[in-house]
Formats: sequence, structure tokens, C-alpha cells
Amino acid sequence: MKIATLTLNPALDKSSTTERLIPEHKLRCSAMRIDAGGGGINVSKGIHKLGGESTAIFPAGGNNGTRLKQILTDAGIVTSVVDIDGETRENISITESSSNLQYRFTLPGVELTEAQAEACLERIERMKPDYLVASGSLPPGLPETYYEKVAQLARRINARFILDTSGKALLCAAKEGLFLLKPNLAELSALVGVEKLEMNQVDDAALSLIKKGSCEVVVVSLGPQGCLLVTKDGFEHIPAPTVKKQSTVGAGDSMVAGMVWALSQGKSYREMAQLGVACGSAATMNKGTELFHPREVQRLYDWIQQYGDRYRFTDF
Ligand SMILES: Nc1ncnc2c1ncn2[C@@H]1O[C@H](COP(=O)(O)OP(=O)(O)OP(=O)(O)O)[C@@H](O)[C@H]1O
Ligand SMILES: [Mg+2]
Repeated sequence: MKIATLTLNPALDKSSTTERLIPEHKLRCSAMRIDAGGGGINVSKGIHKLGGESTAIFPAGGNNGTRLKQILTDAGIVTSVVDIDGETRENISITESSSNLQYRFTLPGVELTEAQAEACLERIERMKPDYLVASGSLPPGLPETYYEKVAQLARRINARFILDTSGKALLCAAKEGLFLLKPNLAELSALVGVEKLEMNQVDDAALSLIKKGSCEVVVVSLGPQGCLLVTKDGFEHIPAPTVKKQSTVGAGDSMVAGMVWALSQGKSYREMAQLGVACGSAATMNKGTELFHPREVQRLYDWIQQYGDRYRFTDF
């Protein structure tokens, strides 16, 4: 089974720590840590950690772009990069060690032209993956309807399209129809056009998406409460184990990585969602942008398989 991830708005994530953030002072920081970032790229990293393989497709340019490619290649992740003019964006996060608060600065990225995005889609078309995962925001320059095009391409090449994004980009793609959606509560509310959903309305809301043809499977991620797996045949709550939370950065992408990897291994939807929760929860146990440790995933997955059943069909 071939997996491709698409990151139209990748970034170089730089992080460091300092004792206290004080204005007008020279602040001594720890050595800068540099990671490859962006939704789809994170998913590729997660799949790799689980022992799987995927091709990370993304546009990149300038020194940051070169660095981004190199980091992934060094980590053993297969990339298919569309070279662009201009500089790939970078994000800087500084953690104040005295308070453990993280300050995240996002710098503007270069515009991506439709022709450059099209070149990314051509890579997908040539590769003909079984699973296509797109995650993250759209870069400036692309219309908010762009994921519709990706959905159409996925249908044409018979790839199962999994999308994790938000806002108008998500609404447009859902209209077009795809394989799996992983909204959180806020994203699900937006998808069904209501301000706020109560817990007992989540299954009906997700089912309504399936009925109107937005997707075949919905996994509503519920943060510390795990997720709700919904298909046309029913729904199931997968609880998240209680873990010592450090940072939720990357939880959603880790969850998607676990799910797509499980699917590519021929696992059932239940196992897919269970592994997704295990990866998401394991990601929260690590600081900063670090995703998860596979041994933690295994431990949490075992717990979910053993005790998760007790919660089956719970009405929250
Ligand atoms: N506090 C937590 N404790 C345990 N597990 C958690 C916690 N927060 C998140 N998770 C795990 O991560 C998964 C995804 O988290 P969440 O629902 O917050 O996604 P998200 O809002 O899409 O996150 P992101 O901000 O990364 O996009 C959850 O289903 C759960 O397994
Ligand atoms: Mg998310």
C-alpha cells in the first residue's frame, strides 16, 4: 500500500528556551532546535516512527526549503519536493522555562501559485498512492477551494483521501466528498453549520456528513476524551488513556499518522481509531514539536484494546 502526504504550506520549526521573557533585555537562549513542520510532513514523520513508509510531497524554496528537505532525508523520510522561488516560511517558538509557557511566532510564508500547487498534484498523479493524506492550512496565493481539486484528483486515481484541515478549506473539500475526515469538535460544528455541539449531538452530526456524501468515515477527535468513530454502520467511542500531558502540539497529526498507517496495514476501522488515539495521546506526553515514542504508543494501544471496550457505546 502506497501512502502520500501533501503539505502545501510547510515550515521550518525553530524552537529554543530561555529562563524568562523580559522586554528590552538580551535573553540567553538554549541551542536552537530545528524541525521539519507542516501537517502532512508531521504525518509522514509519524508513519515513519511506526515503521511505515510514505512519500512527503511539498513545495519548498530558499535556504529554509533546502534545510527542510535535508532534515527529512536525514531522518529517512522519502520526499518529493517541488522547487519554488522564495523562501519557505519558518516558525519560531520560545519556551519560557520559569513558567513552562510557550510563545509561538509564525512568520509569513511565500505565496504559492496555482501552477506550483498543480506541480504537487502531478507528483501525486504519477505516484498513484492508495492513501493520500493532506493536512494543514493552505498557503497564501491559493484559493480556499483548493482542496476540492485534491479531492477530485484522489477520486480520479482511486486514492482514499484523508483530510485534516479547518475553516473554509475544510468546508469546500467536504462538499466535494472524500474518504475520511478527522475534525475536532469545533471543526465538526463548522462542518454541520452550528455554533456549538453538545457531546450527545456529535454522533448525529458526524452521521449527517456521511449521509450527505461528504465522506465515508468520520473520526471526531475529542482531546483528552479520545475520539468518536462514525461510519454508516454505527458509532463507537474510543477513550483516551489518562496521560501526563506536556504539550498537545502535533496530537492531531500524530493521530492521523496512526490511522492511515493502520489502514495501510489492513486493520479494521476500530483498530484504526484505537491506534489513532494511542498516537495522539502519546504525542501529548512529549514536549514541544516532538511527536511520540513508539513504545508509548504500544503501551497506550494495549490499554485501549484492553479497557476501551468498557466504554463502547457510552452515551456521553
Ligand atoms: N489532554 C489529552 N490527554 C490525552 N490524549 C489527548 C489529549 N489531548 C489530545 N489527545 C489525543 O490526541 C488526539 C487528537 O487531539 P485533539 O482532539 O485535541 O485534536 P486536534 O484539535 O485536531 O489537535 P491539533 O491541535 O493537533 O490539530 C485525541 O483524540 C487524543 O487521542
Ligand atoms: Mg487538528
